[in-house]
Amino acid sequence: MSSESIIDRLPKCELHLHIEGTLEPELKFVLAKRNGLQLPYDTVEDIRAAYQFSDLTSFLVGYYDGMEVLRTEQDFYDLAWAYLEKATSQGVLYAEIFFDPQAHTSRGVPFDIVIRGIRRAQLDGERQLGIQTGLIMCFLRDFQAEYAMATLLESLPYRKWIIGVGLDSDERGNPPSKFARVFSRARQEGYLLTMHCDVDQENSVEHIRQCIEDIGVDRIDHGTNVVSSPELIDELKRRGIGLTCCPISNSWVSDGTKSAVIKSLLDQGVKVTVNSDDPAYFGGYIAENLAAVQAELGLTAQDLVTLQRNAIDISWAPPEVKHSFR
Ligand code: ADE
Ligand code: ZN
Repeated sequence: MSSESIIDRLPKCELHLHIEGTLEPELKFVLAKRNGLQLPYDTVEDIRAAYQFSDLTSFLVGYYDGMEVLRTEQDFYDLAWAYLEKATSQGVLYAEIFFDPQAHTSRGVPFDIVIRGIRRAQLDGERQLGIQTGLIMCFLRDFQAEYAMATLLESLPYRKWIIGVGLDSDERGNPPSKFARVFSRARQEGYLLTMHCDVDQENSVEHIRQCIEDIGVDRIDHGTNVVSSPELIDELKRRGIGLTCCPISNSWVSDGTKSAVIKSLLDQGVKVTVNSDDPAYFGGYIAENLAAVQAELGLTAQDLVTLQRNAIDISWAPPEVKHSFR
């Protein structure tokens, strides 16, 4: 069996996927029309051509601009439903989905509208497509910690719909320690914890150290710069903290997919996983991300299976979902 067909056939678990990052240009036009908005582009191709990111900051500008079309509960439903259909077509059986409530509440869209639309799609996805999902609420690290705390409190009535919290957006000058109180309170409320330590960011290794030692995260998103610290690699392994890596995203915001680093960490026994991040912007869902690493490194079938085993191991899925992968 070729590895390509192994990728197609592998039951998949996706752990790093921003739902707002799945907003394809085609859906942008549909939502803009429905909401009476004029996009500054004439065609889908014009939108795609405008995706010229050279780093995380330039990506984030386009990413937040693109969200303007998301206004109603139905918009969030349609966004999430489109992702669930795409994921199912690639053999994803379980996905943990990030959402960024502050990217919406900060422009006047209520938290309730956002989460209800996504939740309804999750339930339909389970019933109609057979895909299981968990929702992770991310705080935007370039906003004040007080706003993150207020968002955490606002989420509590929906506690049962959210499995954990994360931290994303612009990392420059926004270390994990800025959110120590928020994450401590989130832990008390029973949320699991993850944080982005994006590839090749300033102070990346120190941010990874803070995540592990000061915050006590359960997982790290990206985190590949740990490769330069044997001590922190040992600590990840000792604590069973996995990394959710995103090769195609890496190639847009840094210099290449970091596939060799992913393979090195895999070989050193770190629980690394391959995921898609913001597929509508970076042009690759989970299968294309696995194929990108495969093409660069010639991963064996066993490596590909290990990546998916790692994903289900470090996932926050309920036991019955974990068992369905065995
Ligand atoms: N928000 C969406 N994608 C992100 C990424 N890769 N890093 C930080 N914040 C994000
Ligand atoms: Zn991300």
